[in-house]
Amino acid sequence: MHKTTGTAITGSGVWHPPTLLGNAELCDAFNIWVRRENEAHAAEIAAGTFTALRESTPEFIEKASGITQRYVVDKTGILDPDRMIPNIPDRKDDELSYQAEFAVNAARRALAEAQREGKEVDMVVLGAANLQRLYPSIAIEVLDAVGGAGFGVDIALGCSSATMAITMCSEAVQLGKAKCALAVTPELTSGFINWRDRDSHFIFGDASVAVVVEPLDRARPGSYEILSTRSMGKFSSNIRNNGGYLNRCDPTRQFADDKLFYQQGRRVFKDVVPLAAKFIGEHLAAEGIGAAQIARFWLHQANENMNSLIAQRLLGREPSSLEAPLILSDLANTASAGSVIAFSKYHDDLPAGSYGLMASFGAGYSLGSLLLRRT
Ligand code: COA
Repeated sequence: MHKTTGTAITGSGVWHPPTLLGNAELCDAFNIWVRRENEAHAAEIAAGTFTALRESTPEFIEKASGITQRYVVDKTGILDPDRMIPNIPDRKDDELSYQAEFAVNAARRALAEAQREGKEVDMVVLGAANLQRLYPSIAIEVLDAVGGAGFGVDIALGCSSATMAITMCSEAVQLGKAKCALAVTPELTSGFINWRDRDSHFIFGDASVAVVVEPLDRARPGSYEILSTRSMGKFSSNIRNNGGYLNRCDPTRQFADDKLFYQQGRRVFKDVVPLAAKFIGEHLAAEGIGAAQIARFWLHQANENMNSLIAQRLLGREPSSLEAPLILSDLANTASAGSVIAFSKYHDDLPAGSYGLMASFGAGYSLGSLLLRRT
């Protein structure tokens, strides 16, 4: 018998905006901009003082990442070569904010699966790689919007924001501070992408996921008991976004590219594969469970090749598509939501008693894992 936190994931739900953005249209617009830039700088390119920009291809994107499409709030702005920023008009203070709307849409689905009503929610932890404002806390807005009462807190931990939000909910429920906690992850990623950066313009997609965490003794059959959790941070600037409230204070750099997502993709790949495999392996070893006993790995969805290598290191062989399911192809990298979306879409078929492991890895570097068992 393994130790347990006495808590369980009793429901989960996913939502994404309806607008689909394919690789071909993304590259077409990007390449119009590249050609225009190169024409505008033709003399400097000839003089060797300006490096000609290179075009982006759908073939590269699919091969390097496994991504074929993504969903976004708005593509008119992204596909306009004069703009290349999504058009997301500011909302008034008395309107539901965008990230709260993302969160509520997923939360309603998670609550329905848990057979709970919004008024039962007594805690919201909102975790996302980027937060749209500093205060009031978006989690408190979500708590209000679903009709709950209690407390809420926003956290940002790069690609481990979602697993940390679930961990914090589990710990609060374990301590008796909450009975019906909601971990919500509204990843409106299109706002922080540099759509003019060939290396990263294809990586992310917008989506939202939510889970309900409750005491094990009131979880309905088919829930997922949280046996244990593990977290780790190892500082790295290889994935970084310097956007923040100090942006306007250096007027010379207010709109610099480093105020958006940027990364050293190759270095991230090389660092994170062994780091994540070791981290997950140590979590399983501490629980006395072999990787072969895990029926399903719900891994962070950054890159298909990366996920496959991590699972291979753990299992000693190639994982099947059901052992380590991917949601990347359709949804792209949904920042911290990926592993939880994989869980939400691929958990219904496992028999009672099955073990599963949810794990995230990314910016920070931050890592998080939860060992689960179906009730
Ligand atoms: N279209 C066409 N070619 C492209 C391209 C694009 N959009 N972007 C890069 N290339 C080219 C490069 O110019 C390079 O060619 P060259 O050697 O002739 O110059 C080649 O493809 C390889 O570039 P590289 O940047 O080394 O790509 P990669 O194979 O490392 O793949 C990532 C890029 C981002 C997919 C990969 O590094 C990765 O997945 N890293 C993990 C990190 C991650 O995903 N983090 C997300 C946040 S958690």
